[in-house]
Amino acid sequence: MIYSRIIATGGYLPARVMDNAELVSMIDTSDEWIQERTGIRKRHIAAADETTCDMAEQAARKALAAAEIDANTIDQIIVATTTPDWIFPSTACLLQERLGINNNCAAFDVQAVCTGFIYALSIADKFIRSGEHKRILVVGADVNSRIIDWTDRGTCVIFADGAGAVILEAGTEPGIYSTHLHANGKYTDLLNVPAGVSKPGDYPYMKMKGNEVFKFAVNTLGDIVDETLAANNLTKSDIDWLVPHQANIRIITATAKKLDLPMERVVLTIAEHGNTSGGSIPLALDSAITAGDIKPGEILLLEAFGAGFTWGSALIRY
Ligand code: ACO
Repeated sequence: MIYSRIIATGGYLPARVMDNAELVSMIDTSDEWIQERTGIRKRHIAAADETTCDMAEQAARKALAAAEIDANTIDQIIVATTTPDWIFPSTACLLQERLGINNNCAAFDVQAVCTGFIYALSIADKFIRSGEHKRILVVGADVNSRIIDWTDRGTCVIFADGAGAVILEAGTEPGIYSTHLHANGKYTDLLNVPAGVSKPGDYPYMKMKGNEVFKFAVNTLGDIVDETLAANNLTKSDIDWLVPHQANIRIITATAKKLDLPMERVVLTIAEHGNTSGGSIPLALDSAITAGDIKPGEILLLEAFGAGFTWGSALIRY
């Protein structure tokens, strides 16, 4: 059997930090409201000329350095993003060039909004399990600040910018045990950016019915925890770490409760990072691995929920 396994991670956050006090000076909100309802204290915002590919490059370089491998040994690049630099080429192709990878490896983007990294990880895992590729760079990166309406207090306090990367490698032991992907296109009205290429719109910013998204997310993530454990014949007590999409501390707490997992076993970056969408899970993973919290051999449950709706999970032995 061939399995895929994460051999290295990297993360990048833009230099500029925006705290809640700055938002209070811009819109009708308060530090207390933001912290109590979302768990966010501050977030990072990209510079005016800083792009998704710029952030993806920094995260990928850190992962490549941590893996101590030559970038030209990568056989595939997947970038999960909803905020690509251009319509085309894909951000993954731009990234391939930035990293000096000249081996003609496959490179493409995946768009599943906040679940994008889980979708990309699942695709990469399947390419490795099939024997087609041996080393894949998976990046999640979003510059959400470009699609935020900074007068909409229901969204601008939540979303932020950042990128994370992992390198997956083929091995004889798992690695990734399973991934689970879902979508339901019935709920596009609850969370969207209603403008695009074939259907231009006059409001190219995020629109979210937050409390309805919240309820759906809590129920759905509870279900996917059950699905993931059942698929692997595991029980709640087998999970060492929950590495959730950093959407809202209350959604994360509900999922941890479902797992009977104390909050000390939940990777939390939301207070400092906000919701970085595609970047959220790989950034959280990188921060916990870099801090030495997640140790080799531990079992991790990664889960995400995002616009679409999309949702997914991955069960991993680090
Ligand atoms: N400051 C102060 N008050 C606010 C703010 C704010 N920033 N935002 C909203 N409010 C007000 C509302 O206007 C409302 O006031 P009203 O009662 O007078 O009408 C009140 O607070 C309650 O609003 P709710 O929307 O019900 O607040 P809620 O507790 O649900 O929190 C939040 C809102 C934080 C958006 C929450 O619903 C949430 O996190 N939702 C899920 C987000 C998510 O997970 N998205 C999916 C992933 S993201 C992606 O895929 C792109």
